[in-house]
Amino acid sequence: MKKITVVGAGNVGATTAQRLAEKHLTEEIILIDIIEGTPQGKALDIWESSPVELFDTKVHGTNSYSDTANSDMVIITAGLPRKPGMSRDDLLAANVKIVKEVTQNVADNSPQAILIIVSNPLDVMSYVALKVSGFEKNRVIGMAGILDTARFRLFVAEALNVSVNDVSAMVLGGHGDSMVPLTKYTTVSGIPIIELLPEDTIIKLINRARKGGAEIVNYLKTGSAFYAPSSAVVEMADAIIKNRNRILPCSVWLEGEYGINGVFCGVPVKLGSNGIEQIIQLNLSSKELEALKNSAEDVRRNIRKLNF
Ligand code: APR
Repeated sequence: MKKITVVGAGNVGATTAQRLAEKHLTEEIILIDIIEGTPQGKALDIWESSPVELFDTKVHGTNSYSDTANSDMVIITAGLPRKPGMSRDDLLAANVKIVKEVTQNVADNSPQAILIIVSNPLDVMSYVALKVSGFEKNRVIGMAGILDTARFRLFVAEALNVSVNDVSAMVLGGHGDSMVPLTKYTTVSGIPIIELLPEDTIIKLINRARKGGAEIVNYLKTGSAFYAPSSAVVEMADAIIKNRNRILPCSVWLEGEYGINGVFCGVPVKLGSNGIEQIIQLNLSSKELEALKNSAEDVRRNIRKLNF
């Protein structure tokens, strides 16, 4: 991949640009923001770390979409973050305007790009990006599941005092309190978690993962998480750029899969050079399926609040 644009030079955007550069994933990174000077300053600062970090990626900051032209991938992080006491849905009205404007500019300048959406409420913003861009559904992907899963994996590893490397998990649903961690698919080196931890402990860990974003917001007070979110974005970018065909939970446009239609929701997908190569349909229990459908309905309710 030659050129990746990151829209929003705030905490998530700038950290994403840094991680992309340090992982040698592209020849050029463009960081764009509405605030003058911020993307230029942060991009130059990241670029100046290249002789020490040993990457040849060029990193440029700008306020003009013409500089982003013909990007292969665009990561949208523009928008307001949460404050303590706010849910992601409270960001809807402010961020929909921003994501609409950003997506229009991105689609005009990079019509072939794969879009990764990070701005919250994530699933609704992915819908906005899909509709405004007019891109095919395989090219508009929301980042949430990997982050929610990473949090859950860490909490499981911590509870068992084992390496995070050995913990696999799958968290589905919308990126909110109704997300659906799948206990059946949570394993430690292939051993089902139910054989290793009592049920009440698992439930506590699930609840902590559900509220993982709020836990960080409550500490930070003036912003929301960005180290783990940027890691999650870059894992998606890596899978697409290297055509790895990785199976990862992402927010995607569903058209009947899992009995859910016309809404963005987190499900396992195969990520490769075309973006979403395939949506993986798991054999969920009726309880899990109901939870997933309820979570999708939460997203649908928010989509209905939009004026398009
Ligand atoms: N175009 C480009 N950039 C914009 C626009 C716009 N129309 N509107 C706002 N921005 C920029 C802001 O100027 C700011 O630099 O988006 C950036 C957001 O950065 P932060 O406030 O640091 O927020 P961050 O923590 O990065 O979160 C961004 O990602 O995880 C989500 O919920 C989070 O919606 C939030 C988004």
